[in-house]
Amino acid sequence: MNLVYQGKTKDVYKLTDGNVLLKFKDDVTGEDGVFDPGANTVGLTIEGAGKSGLRMTKYFFEELEAKGVPTHYIDADLDEVSMTVKPATVFGKGLEVICRFRAVGSFLRRYGAYCEEGQPLDAFVEVTIKDDDRNDPPISQNALEELRILTKDEYEILEALTKKISRIVKEDLSAKGLDLYDIKLEFGRDALGNVMLIDEISGGNMRVYKDGQYIAPLDLEKLLFD
Ligand SMILES: Nc1ncnc2c1ncn2[C@@H]1O[C@H](COP(=O)(O)OP(=O)(O)OP(=O)(O)O)[C@@H](O)[C@H]1O
Ligand SMILES: [Mg+2]
Repeated sequence: MNLVYQGKTKDVYKLTDGNVLLKFKDDVTGEDGVFDPGANTVGLTIEGAGKSGLRMTKYFFEELEAKGVPTHYIDADLDEVSMTVKPATVFGKGLEVICRFRAVGSFLRRYGAYCEEGQPLDAFVEVTIKDDDRNDPPISQNALEELRILTKDEYEILEALTKKISRIVKEDLSAKGLDLYDIKLEFGRDALGNVMLIDEISGGNMRVYKDGQYIAPLDLEKLLFD
């Protein structure tokens, strides 16, 4: 087992059989000790955050697989706080795809002159490029095509998959009285070049509210499973 990348919230290992092992850490993104799923820095360490993230990820990836969504998921080991996945190649240097059901976070910061906090959005999809030095800038479909990161067809596949996945997660949370405001997904290509969902789906990459109150990631895990 070979450590190939140390991310902000996970360490990535290459396994001898060619698969990839994601080891979830207790580091979470944010700034000055305050959690922010949109942040680009490790803001704080919370004991149990890794296990909590993995538990939610395992739950949602198994649900998505059962619903026919192509994902990298193979299996998860909660005791080892790790997940085995199929190797993926990413688009460009990596993209994040965000699906928004309500105006909060960076959407509100950018477009606040035209919307109110919490205003409903219709599964609005936005792409950002993973570029910490440039603060993960949003990128248009035209720019993705111009820069040869995604063809128009690939963009459409990504957008449709994002809406499908995000709506599945939203429905699931909603059955538990929870309201999904936004969620961040990552995609890659498998060995045959097909698009699949990669990375994680956890409290660390979504904003969830209950009765108008924001629910922090670890509390979300408890509301979901306890
Ligand atoms: N199936 C996969 N194959 C290859 N790489 C993957 C796969 N799934 C996820 N990854 C990558 O593994 C890394 C996981 O580490 P982590 O989530 O800490 O990433 P990061 O990029 O440092 O931070 P962030 O995603 O918060 O910006 C990410 O770069 C992610 O794109
Ligand atoms: Mg990440």
